[in-house]
This record gives sequence, structure tokens and C-alpha cells, in this order.
Amino acid sequence: MNVLILGGGGREHAFAWKVSQSSLCKKLLIAPGNAGTAQVGTNIEIGVNEFEKIKELCISEDINMLIVGPEDPLVNGIYDYFNAHEKLQHVVVIGPSKKGAQLEGSKEFSKKFMTKHGIPTASYKSFTKDTIEEGYQFLETLPPPYVLKADGLAAGKGVLIPETLEEAKRSLKEMLTDAKFGDASSKVVIEEYLKGIELSVFVLTDGISYKILPSAKDYKRIGEGDTGLNTGGMGAISPVPFADRFFIEKVEREIIKPTIKGLVEEDIDYKGFIFIGLMVENGNPKVIEYNVRMGDPETEVVIPRIKSDLLNLFRGIGNGSFSEIDFNISEEVATTVMLVSGGYPESYKKGMEITGFKEVEGSTVFHAGTKKNKEKIETNGGRVLAITSFGKDIDEAVEKSFKNAEKIHFEGKYYRKDIGFDL
Ligand code: AMP
Ligand code: GLY
Repeated sequence: MNVLILGGGGREHAFAWKVSQSSLCKKLLIAPGNAGTAQVGTNIEIGVNEFEKIKELCISEDINMLIVGPEDPLVNGIYDYFNAHEKLQHVVVIGPSKKGAQLEGSKEFSKKFMTKHGIPTASYKSFTKDTIEEGYQFLETLPPPYVLKADGLAAGKGVLIPETLEEAKRSLKEMLTDAKFGDASSKVVIEEYLKGIELSVFVLTDGISYKILPSAKDYKRIGEGDTGLNTGGMGAISPVPFADRFFIEKVEREIIKPTIKGLVEEDIDYKGFIFIGLMVENGNPKVIEYNVRMGDPETEVVIPRIKSDLLNLFRGIGNGSFSEIDFNISEEVATTVMLVSGGYPESYKKGMEITGFKEVEGSTVFHAGTKKNKEKIETNGGRVLAITSFGKDIDEAVEKSFKNAEKIHFEGKYYRKDIGFDL
């Protein structure tokens, strides 16, 4: 098969790394990719939302499968775009239709979906500029802290959790009338604050049957002990120790099955990943959010734990044999530790030379923000590299990642030395 992966982060390097190991893979292209994906395939300088150019590339390179990494092109309808073009209809697209992508693209859509299909989630109401007064009144009925979510995509920054009523009202006004998140916050979902422990469960589906992938937990804050600013993710572990077989069976019964049934009932074409963010209190899971893609850095621990041929599973999604394909997961624990640029998630420098790759032993280094510059590899983003390791437990795995993190050098390198600390 000739495969094109869209995206250029650690998630896409992990996909490319896995797909390139499949005997079914003939040609592997990544657009735009990074210095890591270039080691297992060919990078093409096309952006993930340049549908015309992606179409031309798929035709000229005889692509049979498109794996969509980030949410943006999905919310923009790349699945439907491929379905609508005669010359692209044979391409298997891994990622949901535009309507399915609304599970991530619109908080209100996803809340309505969950309510309609009896999926446990925080209670909520949504408001616009015209109903802001009702929004203030609704806030007055809730205990603090308050959860305000921009309806649309806001690059992972659209959720605010103010501690006081005054702050919450101010935030609501900023979102609705001052367009704090642009168009994305022209509608705001206000919901009940959920207490508990967070984790994520991932599902791969052809829209009818599904396979439950390993659970994972990521570490979003920049500082140790989960302090400081939010980032895209500083590290991850899989599996989450308390997510044992009984817990996952509960999630399957109460959340995964009704989600898939909901997709079928609403006639939503969904061939791809569902990332279910959960909050768990007293063993009871509630959905915080759906994402319509894999997580980053969760992919860097979830994908390496899959022993089966991922490309074969994707092919099964395309040809209807998905439900019959065997699916095996490694028993070992995987952790990943992100090396980031100094200053991230605020401003940081790019173009710092990265050295030490050859010294790494016993871990896999997934590239995120990296770029090749002649013979050198340079930093090209906030999150630079994800160092993934296996072990019999979290401690053993994370120690390997930390040891190898010390062997890689670039100016301003920073990483959290406490990934997995709370488990
Ligand atoms: P989201 O973008 O929906 O994942 O929200 C970002 C983060 O906000 C989540 O990872 C949670 O830590 C937190 N969060 C979102 N919704 C709630 C909620 N209803 N109660 C408590 N925390 C929440
Ligand atoms: N690591 C969180 C995400 O990918 O959304």
C-alpha cells in the first residue's frame, strides 16, 4: 500500500514509525513531517489543510491510504473532500467525516450527543451573546470553580476554569462579547466542575465495530508536580494502573458502546480514532471531552504498545474486515518524556542544533518539533523530542527515558523529571 500521513509532530512520527514496519507498506509519505519522519519515509512540504495539493499528491503518487494526524483537517472536512472526488474515492481515509469530527469541533455538539445517547458527562448549558444574562444567572446557581468552554476549536486553549463567580462572569463576557477565542467562543458551554482523576481511553473504529486501544495519562503542565502553564503535553504513561480490566469493561459498557451506537443511529460516517478524555470519581467515569484523533504525546506510548500490524487494521477499516482482525497489546508499561525548548509554552528559540542521538540506548526517540538542516538536525518547535521506553513498571520505564534524555543536547533543553509521579 502507498500511504500518506498528514501532520508533523511526535504523534505522526510514531504513526510513521509503526506503519513503516508493516510488510503491507510499499511507499510512505508524510506531509509536512519532521526530521524523524524523514528517517522512515519521505517528507512532502504540504500543509495539512491544503486539500487541493493533497489531492494532487495522492493522485500523482498513487496513494491508497490517508492517515490524518491532527483534528484541523478533519473538522475542515478532508474525509468528505476525498469522498466527493472521483479520483480519490478509493483512498481509505483514517479519520471521521466532517459531521463526526464535530465531536471535537463543537463542544455543544458533543454535549448534545452524550446527553441524547445516555453517556455520562458533566451537566451543562450553552450560551451566546444574546443569552449572556442567562449565562450570568446560570453561573450564580453553580458552586465554584466554574468550567467555561469555547464551543469551537481553540488550539487546546478554549477551556477556562475560574475560581470565583466574578472571574467566571468576566471570562464569559470576554469569550462571548470580546471574542477572546475569535469565532470559536461565539458560543460557550458552561458545565459542572468534575472532581477526580483524569485519564484517556482510545478506540479505533470502522463506525460499527471497534477495538479498545491501551489507556494513557498525559502530563499537561510545564512544571513538576503539575504546576505552571498548560502545554500540549510533557509526557505520558500507558497503561494507567487503576484502569484495570474491570474498569475498562465499565468504560466499554457505559461509554464506548453507547458512543458507537450513537454514531450508527445518527448515520455518522466514522472510520478512525476516538480519544475519550475521562474524569473518574469513586470508580465512576464521566466524559470530559471527545477528540477525533489520537493524542500527542499519548500516541508515543499507545502505538508502541500495539503488537499487531497497525496498517493491516487500517486496511481492515477500508475493506470491511476490521472486526475479524486479531489485536494484541504488549503487557509492558510504556512511558514517554518530552524534551522541550527553553521558554515553551511561551516564546522560545528555534534552530538549535540537536546532538547525542547515537548515544541513546534502550529507548525510541520520536521527533516532534525538529527539522533537518543539511546534515544537522535542529529544533523547530516548542515540543522537540519524545523519548519512549518500556519497562515492567512505570519506574523502570521512566528511568530509561530520563537517562537517555540526559544524552541528548540542545540549547535550552528542558523536561519534567517527574512523569508518572502521581501513579
Ligand atoms: P478539554 O479541552 O475539554 O480537555 O479541557 C481541558 C482540561 O480542563 C481537561 O483536561 C480537564 O483537566 C479540565 N476540565 C474540562 N472539563 C472539566 C470539568 N467539567 N470539570 C473539571 N475539569 C474539567
Ligand atoms: N495530549 C492531549 C491532546 O493531544 O489533546
